[in-house]
Amino acid sequence: MKNFSSLVIFLIASMSLQTAAADECAVTIEAGDALSYSMSAIELPSSCATISVTFNHTGNLPAAAMGHNWVLAKTADLQAIQNDGNAAGAAGGYLKAGDARVIAATDIIGGGESTSVSFATAGLSAAEDYSFFCTVMSHSVVMKGVFTLNG
Ligand code: CO
Repeated sequence: MKNFSSLVIFLIASMSLQTAAADECAVTIEAGDALSYSMSAIELPSSCATISVTFNHTGNLPAAAMGHNWVLAKTADLQAIQNDGNAAGAAGGYLKAGDARVIAATDIIGGGESTSVSFATAGLSAAEDYSFFCTVMSHSVVMKGVFTLNG
């Protein structure tokens, strides 16, 4: 029985080395009626095949006044994505349609609303610098954070 328990523990440990558990690959982030997120950095295991981001707007202002989105891209692409987002304007959701530089993006939400996005990590690298940011009305100037895959 003791050997059996050890085997089970070994098997569970082996499995966890191969694939991170789903809850390790999910993150919840918030923003309110200010130009900031609830966290300045998101770090997740590189073993996550898929990452899920839940984004809650805890403020009171409607999307038209203080909308936010959560966009992920290489840090090097942030400014160009924002520039094209400004050109797209509110009607275009502050993102260029079909922008291939965008790795993931949520809808724009207002106070009291929640949204989420899931994306595959295939093609992402632990060595790359990624940022998450809000493209609404150039919020990304200050509303941004660092995204890192560990390992
Ligand atoms: Co914003």
